[in-house]
Order: sequence, then C-alpha cells, then structure tokens
Amino acid sequence: MHHTIEVENLTYTYPGGHQALIDVSLSVGPDERVALVGPNGAGKSTLMLHLNGIYRPTSGQVTVGGLPVTDDNIGQIRAWVGLVFQNPDDQLFNPRVFDDVAFGPLHMALPEEEVRRRVDAALDAVGMQDYADHISHHLSLGQKKRVAIATVLSMHPKILVLDEPTAGLDPRARRSLINLLDSMERTMLTATHDMRLVADLFTRVVILDNSRVAADGPTGDILSDGALLTEHGLEAP
Ligand SMILES: Nc1ncnc2c1ncn2[C@@H]1O[C@H](COP(=O)(O)OP(=O)(O)O)[C@@H](O)[C@H]1O
Ligand SMILES: [Mg+2]
Repeated sequence: MHHTIEVENLTYTYPGGHQALIDVSLSVGPDERVALVGPNGAGKSTLMLHLNGIYRPTSGQVTVGGLPVTDDNIGQIRAWVGLVFQNPDDQLFNPRVFDDVAFGPLHMALPEEEVRRRVDAALDAVGMQDYADHISHHLSLGQKKRVAIATVLSMHPKILVLDEPTAGLDPRARRSLINLLDSMERTMLTATHDMRLVADLFTRVVILDNSRVAADGPTGDILSDGALLTEHGLEAP
C-alpha cells in the first residue's frame, strides 16, 4: 500500500514577494495518479518542491502518508517521496551513474550489498543497466532523465513526484519513459505540458493557473471541456 499526499490551503510567497501558490488544496490517494497541468509560471514546480520539504508553506499545511512535512519528519518524508526534478542536471551530481543512483541508499546507511542490489534493480527498471560505469554528465537528455528517475527508485519511494518528465525528449525516449511510468504502481503526481501523456496515464487532472487550483477532476471530464482548457492555455491531446 502506498501513501497519500494532502495539501491544505497552501500559500507560498517567494522571498522577493511573488505569491507562487495561493490557498492551494489537493489530495492524492494511495496509488492514485494525478497530473498537474497549467501554463508556465502557474506554480507547479513550487508546489512539488513542498512535497518533500525543500520549500515550506508560508501558510497552510502539507501532509504525506499522514505525517506533516516538518523538520521532525523530514527524514521519513524524503524516504517516502521520490522527487524527480525537471532538469536532470539538478539531480545528477556524481561523476558516475552508479554513484548517483547509489547516493540515496548509501545515505540511508544500507549495507553495501543491498545498495548494489538496489542500484542494479533501479537501472534495470529504467533500461540503463549497461550505463552504471558511464559518466552521468556525458549522457543524452533522455538518458539523464532515466538515471534521475533511477536515483529515486533506488530509495524505494512510496510516492513519485515528477516535474515535466517527458519535456525535451525525442519520440522514442518519450514513449519508453511513458511505458516505464505506466508500469510503476505507485502514488504519482506529475507536472506536465504533455496532454497525450495525461490522457494515457492519469486518472485525474488538476489545473493550476495563476497560483491557484482552477479545476480538479477525472481526466475524461477535464480533457473534454474545451472551454476550460482554452481558458487555461491548454490543448486537448
Ligand atoms: N526562486 C524563485 N524566486 C522568486 N520567484 C520564483 C522563484 N522560482 C519561481 N518563481 C516564480 O514563481 C512562479 C511559479 O513558478 P513555478 O513554480 O516554477 O511555475 P511552473 O512550474 O508552473 O512553471 C513564477 O512566476 C516564477 O517566476
Ligand atoms: Mg515548472
């Protein structure tokens, strides 16, 4: 059984004064897959960065698996929530692929053999098993995105939070990433502009626009509402 996300009346103001989230409430049930869509600057990434405590609410509350995201719980929350950044260069900082994927499990103080097992399994899952000894920095964008996902899979997260996973990928890389995500039974919240990805993979859609939740409903209902999509700068797949 995987975990829930509860976001209650979350408001976040950046130090410069910009209100990037205003009174956002959203819950994701165990094993539910929710897509977060909306124009650039809507606040999607800001919201995701709250889910493992990188940002903390200006007001409101975020709860994961029943635990509020606070300093006391941050270790447990980060073990549960696998957050994949939009830009893999923000996630990969070790010279070798193996070390990037091993970083989380090593940090969890797991025995070396278990770390190795987890790295192998995570690289296998993303189809990068032959790249353990490669230099992360030299990989293509699609390969880096896969390795970035492997770095969180190796932690056995109960929740996957993905920020624009298919952005910038060529069609084949995009398709294999979609198949990979589809094969993962896990609570999933994904920010994306890829409306075909939304239609293929997600049961529910939340539209974020101008720092607020503009709509939240079953994918079929949202994607068939042309006026709603147009109003928020979105297109049907
Ligand atoms: N570090 C920051 N400091 C100040 N403003 C920021 C920062 N990061 C993002 N913003 C602003 O917050 C708003 C929401 O950004 P973001 O969450 O990245 O939106 P999205 O992911 O939906 O494109 C934007 O107006 C953006 O310019
Ligand atoms: Mg973003």
